[in-house]
Amino acid sequence: MKKFYVTTPIYYPNDIPHIGHAYTTIAADILTRWHRLMGEEVFFLTGTDEHGKKIETAAVQNNKEPKEFVDSLIPKFKEAWEKLNIKYDRFIRTTEDAHKEMVRYMYEQSWEKGDIYKGFYEGLYCTGCEAYYQEKELSEGCCPIHKTKVEHLKEESYFFKLSAYRDRLLEHFEKKKDFVRPESRYNEILYRIKEGLNDFSISRNSFKWGIELPFDKEHIAYVWFDALTNYLSGVDYLAAKEQKYWPADLHLVGKDIIWFHSVIWPAMLMSAGIPLPKKIFAHGWWTFNKEKISKSRGKVINVDELISIAGVDAARYFLFAETTFGQDGDFSTEALLRRRDSDLANELGNLVSRALTMCEKYCAGKTPLVSNVDTEALVIKQAALNTVKKTGKCMEEIDFSGALNTVWLFIKLLNQYIEKTAPWTLAKNNEKEKLEAVIYTVLEGIRLVAVLLSPFIPETAEKIMNQLGQDLKAAHLFIETAKWGCLQPGTFVKKGAILFPKDPKIKDG
Ligand code: ME8
Ligand code: MG
Repeated sequence: MKKFYVTTPIYYPNDIPHIGHAYTTIAADILTRWHRLMGEEVFFLTGTDEHGKKIETAAVQNNKEPKEFVDSLIPKFKEAWEKLNIKYDRFIRTTEDAHKEMVRYMYEQSWEKGDIYKGFYEGLYCTGCEAYYQEKELSEGCCPIHKTKVEHLKEESYFFKLSAYRDRLLEHFEKKKDFVRPESRYNEILYRIKEGLNDFSISRNSFKWGIELPFDKEHIAYVWFDALTNYLSGVDYLAAKEQKYWPADLHLVGKDIIWFHSVIWPAMLMSAGIPLPKKIFAHGWWTFNKEKISKSRGKVINVDELISIAGVDAARYFLFAETTFGQDGDFSTEALLRRRDSDLANELGNLVSRALTMCEKYCAGKTPLVSNVDTEALVIKQAALNTVKKTGKCMEEIDFSGALNTVWLFIKLLNQYIEKTAPWTLAKNNEKEKLEAVIYTVLEGIRLVAVLLSPFIPETAEKIMNQLGQDLKAAHLFIETAKWGCLQPGTFVKKGAILFPKDPKIKDG
């Protein structure tokens, strides 16, 4: 059986999760559901990055011990993912013992290989990023990401010989042209590697909240060296007799942390003699009403707020329809409601509601038997099969908006087909055969739409399937369901409540 191991970044639990964290995690959930549909054995890892100065500082501000502080925030992450209908396989925390052991193993491997040496570090540090910056990387003297002042730090530190991995990294990039996606990111990273790589500091001794180094108890692990290792401990790399999931098929990350994932992490793995992940995809950045998401300036939308606007599925749909995965996007309540009204309520919701109403009215609530398929119906069938194929191709390329666009073109086509064939006129004229063929075609088209959309809007897909008298959950494999003619004539349909009521206050029954 083919396997698919997908990860999200492990988030800093210094605050509750917001729309940005939700974005990456929903993306992983969509891919997980899609690959399961394809019959693959999927492992979806997410979690939290709990060590380092940023967390220690936040704990102090909250008058708590670091561990006590992070313990209080982890449930918020788990609750948020549950509310968003995200079904991960494991939630890893870097404070787990098995993870710490894995981190020490990584340090030992690089130490024995001679890739670690002791030195002095002096430089500019952004605690928000947990990273050093060079003067030329700053924007107006501030961190280019957080726009906050950087600190001047000087400390004794161990270094990792990243410079020694330049050629091997270049070779890997040459060989694996799709190692980093989208392509623009691949080119950018390749260019930066060519420019040259500096060794970097991988230990701290100015504070305590971290994992002690195996070869020097005075130093703790650099939080990024610690965090990246989660992708191995998350699948019990050390304990496993044989590796079922590693190497990861896909690391999903935001563009802010692409360097760590596509350069630092591969070099760490090369040093430890562990195979590299297959692909790293960096998505773009969400702004909120055109401004940077920032807690301190009140420009943040947390998960509860996101859901409260128009429900979980509308939010999930919006985030992946609104912008191409890989590009930046702007979030606003108005934009979400606009999409809910036009795409979800008017196009998808109305289609389902009309089709079910007609089936109840003209076919006694049972899926009709098609005795005579005309050309118009055949056109729809062919379009359906093309839609299945094209959507699959988009999903392979991690092109979520492309996949949704493809499905929506078909939804529009089904609506046009109803307009054009005018079942109400066929009924009036007693053209029973033709009427039943139209209704069957529309219902079967809707069933396929529900299958294709199930990774994106799982709750809605399930409601649609139930209305069609189908069970989405029962052994639902793509190869078995993504073909034409699965809807059995004689199946009772059951019209349900409106899928996307336009007034969010009207509760869906
Ligand atoms: O960087 N738009 O954690 P973090 C889109 N612990 N995505 C966003 C976003 C936004 N405005 N804001 C955050 C860390 N994200 C490290 C990771 S991994 C080994 C360690 C998402 O809490 C996006 O995925 O700062 C980004 O990469 C991640 O949250 C950063 O989360
Ligand atoms: Mg961050």
